[in-house]
Amino acid sequence: MDTVIEVKELKRTYVTRRGFLKKEKRVVQAVDGISFEVRRGEIFGLLGQNGAGKTTTIKMLTTLLAPTAGTCKVLGCDTFGQEKQIRKRINFIFGGEMGVYRRLSARDNLRYFSNLYLIPRKERDVRIEKILKLVDLADRADDLAETYSKGMIQRLQIARGLINDPEILFMDEPTVGLDPLGARMLRDIIRRLKEQGKTVLLTTHNLAEVEELCDRLIIINKGKVVARGTPAEIKGCAQSLEDAYVKLIEGVSA
Ligand SMILES: Nc1ncnc2c1ncn2[C@@H]1O[C@H](COP(=O)(O)OP(=O)(O)O)[C@@H](O)[C@H]1O
Ligand SMILES: [Mg+2]
Repeated sequence: MDTVIEVKELKRTYVTRRGFLKKEKRVVQAVDGISFEVRRGEIFGLLGQNGAGKTTTIKMLTTLLAPTAGTCKVLGCDTFGQEKQIRKRINFIFGGEMGVYRRLSARDNLRYFSNLYLIPRKERDVRIEKILKLVDLADRADDLAETYSKGMIQRLQIARGLINDPEILFMDEPTVGLDPLGARMLRDIIRRLKEQGKTVLLTTHNLAEVEELCDRLIIINKGKVVARGTPAEIKGCAQSLEDAYVKLIEGVSA
């Protein structure tokens, strides 16, 4: 099996200063020695409470943030030092982030972003058509994004994330703030990506989402892995995944 993400003893500390003359130093161990591997073609979940360290982890994986310690490899390359090799083969979507131009249509947004990746014009239009269909925006592709619902904007973000035909798509809380139907459409799209052979790593604090989508996941709490496996393995003999989750988190906090 082809391993596409390899994380070993990864750590990230934030040092912030506050108070009078910023003399008060605060050190946050946001990610505290986590290890996991993701195989090609999987939907892999990072599940955890707010502040657990999910976004920090995803930022290191996508080459946006340097680790404090440990190793973090994506597609065989180091995310810190070999980021150029990685960036053209991955893409990421941060939930809630407004990464699209509202005064442009979906199609024009995608044309703009494909220019950034220097995709030849002929290939570009074919690719955009395909992506618009995949994210269910084909029939509204020429309307301005400012007329779209939140769910449509989020689908357009995914479309943008697919423009360089990435092998791995990272999604930070992709369904946050969406209504049930919007969230369901997004989950359908994530499944379609898997069918196309893409690897998806997503973060969430939604247990139903994990149960429905993820092949495997880790649960992180206060920067540490507290459980790993398939949703069924983590559920174990608990009544539900939620019960198992609550026990894990409370067990750690107690
Ligand atoms: N830029 C930053 N500076 C200082 N502390 C940060 C910064 N980003 C995140 N943190 C802290 O690191 C911890 C983990 O945050 P984060 O990775 O955003 O968690 P999650 O995405 O799981 O909610 C939290 O305690 C948060 O307050
Ligand atoms: Mg986060």
